Amino acid sequence: MLKILLIEDNQALLDKLTFVLEGLSGVEISTATDFFKAQKVINEKKDINLIIADYRSGHTKELNLFQKSVSSINCIISLDDLDDTDQILGWKVIEKIDRGSLASKLKESIEKLKQADPTENLKFCRIKTSILLETSPLHADIYAKLSETKYLKIFLAGDVFDAADFTKYTEQKKIEYMYLREDSCKTFINKYISQIDEFTKRHQPPTHDQLSSMNMIAYESVQELTNVLGFTEEVQQLAKSHVQMTVAFMDKKPNLQKMLAKMKSHKGKYITDHAYMLSYISCSIATNLEWASEATFFKLSLAAFLHDFGISDHALAACSTLAEAKATGLNEKELTAFKNHPFVAAEQVKKMSEIPPDVDVIIQQHHELPDGKGFPRGVTAAHIAPLSSVFIVAHDMVKNIFFAPPEGFNLNTYLLEAQARYQQSSFKRVLAAAKKLELEA
Ligand SMILES: [Fe+2]
Ligand SMILES: [Fe+2]
Repeated sequence: MLKILLIEDNQALLDKLTFVLEGLSGVEISTATDFFKAQKVINEKKDINLIIADYRSGHTKELNLFQKSVSSINCIISLDDLDDTDQILGWKVIEKIDRGSLASKLKESIEKLKQADPTENLKFCRIKTSILLETSPLHADIYAKLSETKYLKIFLAGDVFDAADFTKYTEQKKIEYMYLREDSCKTFINKYISQIDEFTKRHQPPTHDQLSSMNMIAYESVQELTNVLGFTEEVQQLAKSHVQMTVAFMDKKPNLQKMLAKMKSHKGKYITDHAYMLSYISCSIATNLEWASEATFFKLSLAAFLHDFGISDHALAACSTLAEAKATGLNEKELTAFKNHPFVAAEQVKKMSEIPPDVDVIIQQHHELPDGKGFPRGVTAAHIAPLSSVFIVAHDMVKNIFFAPPEGFNLNTYLLEAQARYQQSSFKRVLAAAKKLELEA
């Protein structure tokens, strides 16, 4: 971030320049009407990195003292005569602007300065701006994206990102995502994990809204970090910590009505919302089957979190069959990729250390059907693992909840219709367990 000290003795001009600069992103403005006051600002704020000054704003003695104390800080200076260099010997002048055209030229100069940040050819990772509140102060520089190749450093490593910054960037400047350089992602992940672990130790459980939003942020972060770094140990640990937190706060026999009402307003985030809901519904069914245990909840919740990993299109993630996927306009190659997404996600999970073996089986089988008409293998009920059958029914139910008619989701109507698909014994038991859920909206 450019932290600018603007020095101008003409209050009207100072106000005008401040107004012009405040319209720019990635700048923070402090002002002073003379060098004495400017010195006070420099003493108080140790991180000013650009001075914009009219050299006439004060007495020579004050100017000399001030110039000495800021000799290493970049300075844009306004002059009546651009050839006049006597007064500016002590500044680290990077640009001189004619005083008469200062207001009009300053904006252009600042924009140029911001773009001079040498960020080309570096890899960046996108993170949700809100997570900065939880991970602040972060020992990593934070950037805003200006274009496909240009990023602007907004916060320096160690800067505090507080609620006021959050409001400024998300509400006023509409910056939903910030960026970290690839080489500082590890620092970010470790801070994020310790924040999740600390949160898990709290006694007060978060609301469904908070958990659902945390799930979305964690999911996006894990996916983005995997794209940039690969599914490294740290990224795996982030996924595990998040899922452990979800399980720790999970009401093991929840009344899901409130949750359903919330989910309806979350359309457009199908991938993360259906994963979150899937975790709850599959664990609730497991409880009704009397399979309740921390280990089972962890397996189902981790499978829910990672089962569609690699799919970024919400409409595609909602497809249950290859025919539905094809109808979204996929070409043959894309259709094959969709068909194989359970394999790919399962292989990803196999890389994780200290994970129960069933998780990759659940993920690999999440689109299979008991009659053998599912994918990717097309296996029948006899070859579908018991926990997979819970997951498959829960996954189907979640989709039906999301695309329910306006009058709402009706569990009995769903179960009646689902009976035809899930006739085999293990699936019949799962449907019987699902019947005990309190799901009517
Ligand atoms: Fe899927
Ligand atoms: Fe899914």
